Amino acid sequence: MPILSSLALFLVLSVPRSAFAETAPRFPAGFKWCTATSAHQIEGMNQHSDWWQWEQGVGRVRHGERSGRAADHWNRWIDDVGLMRELGVNTYRMSVEWARLEPRRGEIDWAVVSRYRAEIDLLRASGIEPIITLHHFTFPQWIRDLGGWEWEGIFEAFSEFGVLVYSAIAPDVRDWITINEPMVHLVAGYLVGMSPPGLSDIGATRAPLVGMLKAHARVYHALHASAARASKPLRVGLAHHLRVMDPYRRLNPLDAAAAAVADQVFNWAFPVAVETGVLEVRIPFGPSFSEFIPTLAGTQDFIGVNYYSRDLIVFSARGFTRGSFKVKAGAPVSDMNWEIYPRGLYRVLVELAKRIPGKPVVITENGLADAADTRRRAFIRDHLFYLGRAMAAGVNVEGYCHWSLLDNFEWSDGFEPRFGLYEVDYDNGFKRTLRASGQYYSERVRASTARARARAGE
Ligand code: BGC
Repeated sequence: MPILSSLALFLVLSVPRSAFAETAPRFPAGFKWCTATSAHQIEGMNQHSDWWQWEQGVGRVRHGERSGRAADHWNRWIDDVGLMRELGVNTYRMSVEWARLEPRRGEIDWAVVSRYRAEIDLLRASGIEPIITLHHFTFPQWIRDLGGWEWEGIFEAFSEFGVLVYSAIAPDVRDWITINEPMVHLVAGYLVGMSPPGLSDIGATRAPLVGMLKAHARVYHALHASAARASKPLRVGLAHHLRVMDPYRRLNPLDAAAAAVADQVFNWAFPVAVETGVLEVRIPFGPSFSEFIPTLAGTQDFIGVNYYSRDLIVFSARGFTRGSFKVKAGAPVSDMNWEIYPRGLYRVLVELAKRIPGKPVVITENGLADAADTRRRAFIRDHLFYLGRAMAAGVNVEGYCHWSLLDNFEWSDGFEPRFGLYEVDYDNGFKRTLRASGQYYSERVRASTARARARAGE
């Protein structure tokens, strides 16, 4: 036997059995196996939303694309629920589009209400529990015209919208997300001008940031009041985008300090504010303020985590710019040049549990753009591995939603990035085809569900 193969054999045999067991973590019975989508990205013809309007401008979406019919989910929802059954998932994270429901101020489209209700009912009848997001990056255009998160009427309007969705569409749904990725939404809209309102002004970020926190608190209390009246269980949270922020030059104290600031402001300021009621933003030579919002403290019953990647932060005397965020040289990356860094999921979860102990966590998004489907299988395997490690370390994770069920409209990157477990053939009647990695995810979900059932003696 050549020396290298005998060495390999020796290494394999000398790995303790527990390490093999560790490569396939055991997820508990009742674990939420899930895929996630958002309305504007898949439904199509979302004409009354601010994102639809935004796309009409020149140079805003790669290759001049527009969301158009997106993945045509608005018409194919029954088949798409079938795709989820085929995968074997028991949970589906989706958003309800305010611009469809209330295309003009005060005018509710009851046909849309019925259509969403039918989708929720079909999901539940299929053994798939929805997690509903109320705001996933889009507003009705009329709200944008009034000022979005800066409009003084937004708190009442958002809570009325939330209560309408709860009472008329999803009265039996337990888990709710008020706002998807508030910090990404803020950066995209107010710092890098890549989504409505299209600003690049750090001084303009405070008002929408505080607006989102207050709007979240308001709808949190309104949803709980509705559920209490109906004596139904309910949990409300947010989906936070958490990234690993490491110094670009490992031993450089300035890079380390810059990474610590970016981490504090981007990852933790918002979720911690929701716990304590106090928003603390401290950016040396940039905005620094704190704000106490009395109704906010303790308004997340569970924590949604969207995890994708890591940034390496390089210090600059000019403060944070796009150039401050680098990708590790030579690291594996997705089609969007995001580092594939599975251990980061473990790191953000352990850090989260340190900063906000004791809260249940759901991975509300994790995925990658991989059109050729050459990296997604290992991506899923490795992220589930580190998820298991985080759970073994005591983080109370209840579920994992893969982003995304389908290829979809990836905001300013258009249709090129392919995030789907199912490929969508846009030129061929929106035909869906399960990718090999989707098959792998399905096998993992089914095996885990079967093991958990067997353990529970079902
Ligand atoms: C967003 C999704 C988006 C995904 C991939 C997340 O930040 O919630 O809407 O498609 O990342 O970019």
